[in-house]
Amino acid sequence: MTGMEPPVAPEDRAHSAALSARAGQVIPGGMWGHQHNRFLTTDHPMFIESSSGPYFTDVDGRRFIDLMCAWGPMLLGYGNPAVAEAAARQAAIGDTQNGASPRAVELAELLVDTIDHADWAILAKNGTDATTACVTIARAATGRDVVLLARGSYHGAAPWCTPEPAGVLTSDRASLDYFEYNDSASLTAAVERAGDRLAGIVITPFKHIEGLDNQDVRPEFARLVRSSCDAAGAVLILDDVRCGFRLNIGGSWEPLGVQPDLSAWSKAIANGHAIAAVVGIDSLRDAASRVFLTGSFWTGAVSMAAAIATIETLRTTTAFMDMVSAGERFRTGVTAQISALQNGTAHYSGPVTMPYVTFAGDVGHELAADFSRICLREGLFLHPRHNWFLSAAHDDDVIDRALAATAIAFSEIDTRLEHFATHTTIGQESRS
Ligand SMILES: Cc1ncc(COP(=O)(O)O)c(C=O)c1O
Repeated sequence: MTGMEPPVAPEDRAHSAALSARAGQVIPGGMWGHQHNRFLTTDHPMFIESSSGPYFTDVDGRRFIDLMCAWGPMLLGYGNPAVAEAAARQAAIGDTQNGASPRAVELAELLVDTIDHADWAILAKNGTDATTACVTIARAATGRDVVLLARGSYHGAAPWCTPEPAGVLTSDRASLDYFEYNDSASLTAAVERAGDRLAGIVITPFKHIEGLDNQDVRPEFARLVRSSCDAAGAVLILDDVRCGFRLNIGGSWEPLGVQPDLSAWSKAIANGHAIAAVVGIDSLRDAASRVFLTGSFWTGAVSMAAAIATIETLRTTTAFMDMVSAGERFRTGVTAQISALQNGTAHYSGPVTMPYVTFAGDVGHELAADFSRICLREGLFLHPRHNWFLSAAHDDDVIDRALAATAIAFSEIDTRLEHFATHTTIGQESRS
């Protein structure tokens, strides 16, 4: 650590501290997932009281501009009226019931109409449900076992894909093999190793590995993934859980002209309501119908109504372009601030709606942690290791205030940059 004073005095965080102490007694690790106490940076807002538009307020009354968007799900702004109204209307008549509501069919129709490669849809709850279902469907369709993954990519928290080894058996991963994202030779070698056992390839739309610069997919690499699957009779699975509806409404690889056979969606599709989807091409319909897929809450109609309202808002308003414009404004501001650094360099990467910044030579992410801590102090929430998210609720005024916070953070960090000479980033397993 660099010895900075904590930006918020401990007495001002009394409610967080009290809740953390209680959580430590009854929740292993104080919380699960990335709020586990071993992943949290000092001053990270731990318990959230409320959220509205592009803001949230923690239990200590600290209000932040949110550049994490609930780690992706918030797309149109917290409490977006169209989504809230659709969810409330559905909640008044029924949510989880003995069977699906009409909303399930309406949403599946809407997904098929909206996502270019989708001929059918299955609805679930979490991104991991969707990625796991994709892998199972690919195996059922091909009758083969081997699935290829890009090393370090995150696809969820099930034993086949969790980044943490605890409790995972070698047999859970027995039929998986790995390649390097954007590395054609590595992909080709993995495809050759799999031979006639290749069931599918799972890939995210771009390389977003925790702590590393984002990297766009090289179009020729995306095409190689497609042709490798075609040549082997294997299934191309696009994991659009994190990027879905943030890069493109019709599927994240649609602009490249590369269509997956299956894709997994969750996070942003219902603006924060719990839902996931698997969509696929006609020839996989039979396999998808043979795999047993279900969950106690998978017929929940409130989140389906919310998803319908979210997708209709995306299709009929300027929300998507508003989000892109917000991202462009933010990128312009941040890259100008980076250019003004006197003592070192930082690097902005990623699509404008999912940016990330690393600092040259920031071994151990200490500068990134300090940067995010200063931003927190200035009222802006972002994360030192995970990509950030823009939403349609980040209007010009919000972006300008976010940039005022990053300007202060860059200028404070600048005084320490001279100690870091070369641009290195640490490889981390990704989790979100
Ligand atoms: C690319 C990707 N795939 C899958 C998942 C798993 O989604 P969930 O956490 O909803 O299970 C995530 C979650 O961050 C993700 O980013």
